[in-house]
Amino acid sequence: MNATTETKDGEPTRRDFIHLLASSAVAVGAAGAVWPLVAQMNPDASVLALSTKEVDISAIAVGQAIKVIWQGKPVFIRHRTPEEVVEAEKTPLSALKDDEARNANIGDKAAADDSNRRLKPEWMIVVGVCTHLGCVPLGTDRGESRGDFNGWFCPCHGSHYDLAGRIRKGPAPENLKVPPYAFVTDTVIKIG
Ligand code: FES
Repeated sequence: MNATTETKDGEPTRRDFIHLLASSAVAVGAAGAVWPLVAQMNPDASVLALSTKEVDISAIAVGQAIKVIWQGKPVFIRHRTPEEVVEAEKTPLSALKDDEARNANIGDKAAADDSNRRLKPEWMIVVGVCTHLGCVPLGTDRGESRGDFNGWFCPCHGSHYDLAGRIRKGPAPENLKVPPYAFVTDTVIKIG
C-alpha cells in the first residue's frame, strides 16, 4: 500500500504534513545530541596546560643536559658544544640504524640528518624513552655513561644513541623521538 496519500490535485494530505514534521523533529533532535558530545571532546584550558610544558633553558650550560617530565615521559634537553654539533652533523646516513628523523616538528619520513633532528643546532631535545622496551637511557646527568657515541646509553640491553639521539648500536630499532616543541623566546621552549 502506498504510504503517501494525495488529494485529487496532487497536494499532500494533512497526515503527510504531520509525518514530515515528526521526521524533521527527529533530525533536529539527533543533530542536537551530537553538539554536546563534540563540545565535551574539546579539551578545556587545564587539559591543554597539562599537555604542554614551558621550560627555561637559560641555566643549562654548554655541554650540560637536563631531564624534564612532559605528559608523564622524560624529555632530555642537551645544550651541545660546537664540537658536538660538528660531530653529529658529519655522521653519514649510511652509519645509522634508523635513517628516519622521527621528529614531530617536521614531516614524516624526513631523513635523520642532524639538521632534521633539531630546531637550533646547539639544542638537542628528545623523548627519553628507549625505543627497544622503554627504559630511560643514561647520559643526561653528570657522570652517567653516554655510551659509545657520546649521546645516551640504555643499560637495560645495551642500546647506544649518538649526540642527536639516533640509535647507533644495540637492539633498539628506532631513534629517540623528537617531541613537538617551539622556542617561545631564545631561552624558553614550549614542549607539546
Ligand atoms: S630497553 Fe633500552 S636497550 Fe632494551
